[in-house]
Amino acid sequence: MNCRPYNRTITQPRTISLVATFISVFLVLFSDNGVADSPDKMPPPEPYCEWQEANYSIEKPLCNHIGDAKRGQAIASDGSKGNCLACHQLPIDGIEAYGTIGPPLEGVSSRLPEGFIRLRVVDTRHINPMSIMPGFYRDPSLINRPGKPYIGRTFLSAQQVEDVVAYLVTLK
Ligand code: HEC
Repeated sequence: MNCRPYNRTITQPRTISLVATFISVFLVLFSDNGVADSPDKMPPPEPYCEWQEANYSIEKPLCNHIGDAKRGQAIASDGSKGNCLACHQLPIDGIEAYGTIGPPLEGVSSRLPEGFIRLRVVDTRHINPMSIMPGFYRDPSLINRPGKPYIGRTFLSAQQVEDVVAYLVTLK
């Protein structure tokens, strides 16, 4: 009996899938969006923009950045950035999986003013000290993030927060 052709049909797809797995792991680890970015490749943390809270609101945009709603939607739905979908439903076509720990964000800007939304995203504990929602722009000196490269970093940059706020403001 000649086993060669049989062997060949078995090994080829396996080799292809091994190579595919290797390539995808490589891409996740070393791409710019990868969660496990190589520490040497991360730029130094940006200086922290101070903000003022009054009446459960941050009126002024962080560092006077202008937000972009389209970028904000991408950041909100990206699991390695805002990851809002882990807890909230967002009205984005084609997204079927989302968490329900937080309220759905559809129509959020008809319920809440922009300054309140900004404080929610920046540091939600100023509104609800027991909240499990992460403070995406919490003062880094108050956060204990494991791993040296993360020290001094906020979860989102000031510009990313403004992009997310600009996106939420469009959800009427
Ligand atoms: C770990 C879960 C979790 C994640 C991740 C999360 N949130 Fe929340 N969020 C909550 C919970 C829970 C609440 C309800 C209020 C509270 O408990 O503080 C909330 C409340 C809110 C509210 C107020 C909504 C309302 O109708 O009162 C906004 C706005 C909001 N989140 C935006 C976001 C955005 C934007 C992101 C991503 C950048 C995000 N959240 C990520 C859990 C989360």
